[in-house]
This record gives sequence, C-alpha cells and structure tokens, in this order.
Amino acid sequence: MEKALNAQMTQEAWQAQVYLSYGAWAEGAHYAGTSDFLYKHAHEEREHMFKILKYILNRGGKVKVDAIQAAPADPKDLGDCLKKLLQHEVENSKLIDHLADLAHKERDWATLNFAQWFVKEQVEEETLVNNLLDLYVLATTKKDGNVNLYELDRDIAKASQEATIPQEEKF
Ligand SMILES: [Fe+2]
Ligand SMILES: [Fe+2]
Repeated sequence: MEKALNAQMTQEAWQAQVYLSYGAWAEGAHYAGTSDFLYKHAHEEREHMFKILKYILNRGGKVKVDAIQAAPADPKDLGDCLKKLLQHEVENSKLIDHLADLAHKERDWATLNFAQWFVKEQVEEETLVNNLLDLYVLATTKKDGNVNLYELDRDIAKASQEATIPQEEKF
C-alpha cells in the first residue's frame, strides 16, 4: 500500500507538470485566460501530491520522492489541449480506482477512506474539463445567423433566476 501511495504521489506531481506545460503553451499561443486556469490547476495537482505525502507520513509510512517523467508534447490547438487534459484526468481516475481497489483487498479501511476523497475529486475534475470542452465546441461551431453561441451560453448563465442549483457540500 505504501508503494502504491508513493506511486500515486509521483503521478499527481506529473499531473501538475502536465498542467504547467500546457499552461506555458497556452500563454505562448495568446490564450491568457486558459493559461491562467491551467497554472492554477497545476497548483491544485501539487496539493493532491502533498495530500498523499502527508497521509503516508501520518500513517507511519516512508515517503519516496521519485523522478517525474517529462511533460507531454505541446497540444496542436486549444481543442487538442482540452481533449488531452480530459484523457489525462480519465487515466488518473483509473489509477485512483486501483488505489481504492488495493486498499479494499488489503482491508486497509483508513486508506480506502482516504482514496475515496480522490475518487470524488476525480469526478469533479473530469466534469470540469468536460464542461470546458463543451464551451470549446460551442465557441468553434459556426451557425447561420452569425450567432456566437459561446457568448449566448455565457449570457444565459448570467440571466437572473430565483432558484439556485443544489451544490454538493465541500469538506
Ligand atoms: Fe489530481
Ligand atoms: Fe486532476
């Protein structure tokens, strides 16, 4: 279990490198908003890494800070960037599932509980990137009548309403 947690810790560090490198690509490609989002998310992935580091130590384990593999090649364009990020998140979700699976097999209930925070987090991360991909599709789809669907969608979101959407409690 200790080995698997260390491997996931390194994996989260790599995820941070992915977001960092895509952020640098986006800034170079004049997407200031996107690069800002990606840099911030790189920090979030570092926080995931740190969360695992603290957990290993809190449980009396040994942390092994390992080499991180190189960041992937630059994406071709913004759509490619978002698609690849989604792939990275889906891949990471699978690794988290393996971690939870191993904890269950070893009857390590503390680590199973710990891994479940990440299971939930991955659902959020996949949803986040999926939503950005939806916006990209709207923004790049040409429609008759010269309607910019991206701006329309943004305006719809801002339209005043009485009701609020139930949000899951953050803890
Ligand atoms: Fe993460
Ligand atoms: Fe992530």
